[in-house]
Amino acid sequence: MREFCPGYVRAPYRALVADYPDESVFTVDDFRVEWGPVFHRGRLDRTARILVVGQDPAQHEAVVRRILVGTAGRRLQGFLARLGIDRSYVMINSFAYSVLGQGGGSRNVDDPAITAYRNRWLDTIVKDQPIEAVLSLGQLADQSVKLWQAQTARGKAFSGVVTTMRHPTYPESAAASGSATHATAMAKMLTTWNAALDQLSGHVTPDSPIPLAHYGTDLAPSDLAVIPERDLPPGLPVWMRSDKTWADRQGANANEKRATIVIRIPTSERPF
Ligand code: URA
Repeated sequence: MREFCPGYVRAPYRALVADYPDESVFTVDDFRVEWGPVFHRGRLDRTARILVVGQDPAQHEAVVRRILVGTAGRRLQGFLARLGIDRSYVMINSFAYSVLGQGGGSRNVDDPAITAYRNRWLDTIVKDQPIEAVLSLGQLADQSVKLWQAQTARGKAFSGVVTTMRHPTYPESAAASGSATHATAMAKMLTTWNAALDQLSGHVTPDSPIPLAHYGTDLAPSDLAVIPERDLPPGLPVWMRSDKTWADRQGANANEKRATIVIRIPTSERPF
């Protein structure tokens, strides 16, 4: 039997996705609102013990309609595996819509309406599920969690571990901006991931207990874990879970690029 994500069928989540903010809140200048919101990945059935907060959905997420399914998600999946967690997690992003351009994230992270919707998700998950720890990925996600802890009764009362580590695509963004080489940024990222492993192991009940093993200075191929079938909508093609890039924004100018996601089955993944 195949497993799949049943979606937002239970009451607290059904209400959250039935009532999401539109472009009057997530403005068309700062967000790719035209691709719609993407809400979560993982358990919504009262079994999640760790809540991960990411940043915003990219092109793979826009197609799959679940978050953290590309490179960042596979790296994170490998991190969770080191904690012995292979199913008891839930993830949301700081922003339900994809952020457009530089500065859009920091400009909007504490916007009152955006924060209110994010806080509703965080409150709902922490009320509904046995969450033992909250892990944020990168500075904006860290800020989102801190706002929740400062602003809501449930955030203030949450007594589990709250920790943060560098965003899983920090090496690529640091190398692209020229602030560090890819190798240096990777080593820096993994130092923070090892610190997060130390904080979380022993506090988050594993699905399958394994001895704690720290990262070295680079990711090994095995650190790019496969996104489980049970996290994704039914019938999703297998190649959409591959580690090859299969969706790309293309276009001759900014608006064409914004309007176009090209989907291509990687050659190594073709059954023909
Ligand atoms: N995709 C997401 O959904 N979130 C991130 O933070 C990065 C990629």
